[in-house]
Amino acid sequence: MKKTIRDVNWEGKSAVMRCDFNVPLKDGAITDDTRIRAALPTINYLIDHGAKTVIMSHLGRPKGKANPEMSLAPVAARLSEYLGKEVKFVPSDVVVDADVKKAASELASGEVMLIENVRFREEEEKNDPDFAGELSELGDVFVQEAFGTSHRAHASTTGIASFIPAVSGFLIEKELKFLGNAVDNPERPFAAIMGGAKVKDKIPVITNLLDKVDILIIGGGMAYTFFKSMGYSIGKSLLDEEGLGLAGDILKLAKEKGVEFLLPVDVVCADEFANDSPHDVYKVDSIPEDRMGLDIGPETIALYKEALSRAKTIVWNGPMGVFEMENFAVGTKAIAECLAESDATTVIGGGDSAAAVTQFGLEDKMTHISTGGGASLEFLEGRELPGIAIIEDK
Ligand code: 3PG
Repeated sequence: MKKTIRDVNWEGKSAVMRCDFNVPLKDGAITDDTRIRAALPTINYLIDHGAKTVIMSHLGRPKGKANPEMSLAPVAARLSEYLGKEVKFVPSDVVVDADVKKAASELASGEVMLIENVRFREEEEKNDPDFAGELSELGDVFVQEAFGTSHRAHASTTGIASFIPAVSGFLIEKELKFLGNAVDNPERPFAAIMGGAKVKDKIPVITNLLDKVDILIIGGGMAYTFFKSMGYSIGKSLLDEEGLGLAGDILKLAKEKGVEFLLPVDVVCADEFANDSPHDVYKVDSIPEDRMGLDIGPETIALYKEALSRAKTIVWNGPMGVFEMENFAVGTKAIAECLAESDATTVIGGGDSAAAVTQFGLEDKMTHISTGGGASLEFLEGRELPGIAIIEDK
């Protein structure tokens, strides 16, 4: 068990808290603030328990240089709205300077401040100990709350813990509970749904899950690499050349392990990669040479729904088709609705599947939606995340 903010007496103490406020921006405005809302219970707890709180995050990939387009200023404003109190934003092109240190030292109990994008300093991604030391001087205890960045060993996610004690916030605790329990202690049958484009990228997670699941369902662009490895013609559909041999290995492994391994039986194929392109449903062994598969078909949806109706735990990572285009969102939407109606524990790995669930307005119907894209994938691969490893054990 990892230590959490409940294990600290915050009276008179200050927290340096790492959040993942890497939120999407359009013309300077935040378009999805899920990650900000997800950190509120921890910040409110710190406020209520008398801590002084200094928050840090990255936003985008500014490559070690100050970039006003990736400033955390809009995050400070949104956070102030949600907390109902001012979050002091103390910007600096070098992230930590004399003004930032002064502001941190002058914080009163229950006050919150936000410093500028830690990736404005190139030392951040290099996990530079001097920079980690500078960050650690802003508080007494490191609160790790950035689940979405916990797969990165950076100065503000891991390095800082060499200087001050590290505990987790409630979001990390929740992510570990739901993702961890789903994978290591699932109520059975346990089904995983894997989608997305490249087999190669998903090999580690599929291999890890084949040891744990009862049912593995494949959808999305990577299905076509499996079809190719089975000797089918896939027309103009996506092919992950590098993943071709691996797809064959996975089919063999699934058989050896006795996992119910489901691939699409029919797919929706279009002339072009465009929403308005003419399209029809085909059996997977009859994909025309001049068409590309962009979604799973109705028989596949029925097959997958039947399998999922037997599951008590479901983990979903990766869409079933090109859900960003309305005409090819049908399969992904049907799976999202199936999970929303299910009594099973439903855990959505972040990234595209989380975006799809949000797009269909079904967020509240899932047991847990991870705030981590790459991080939840690495977690499901069974890897130790460096930003979690540094949190002290109880
Ligand atoms: C994410 O959005 O996945 C995290 O914030 C990590 O961002 P990164 O891939 O730029 O490290």
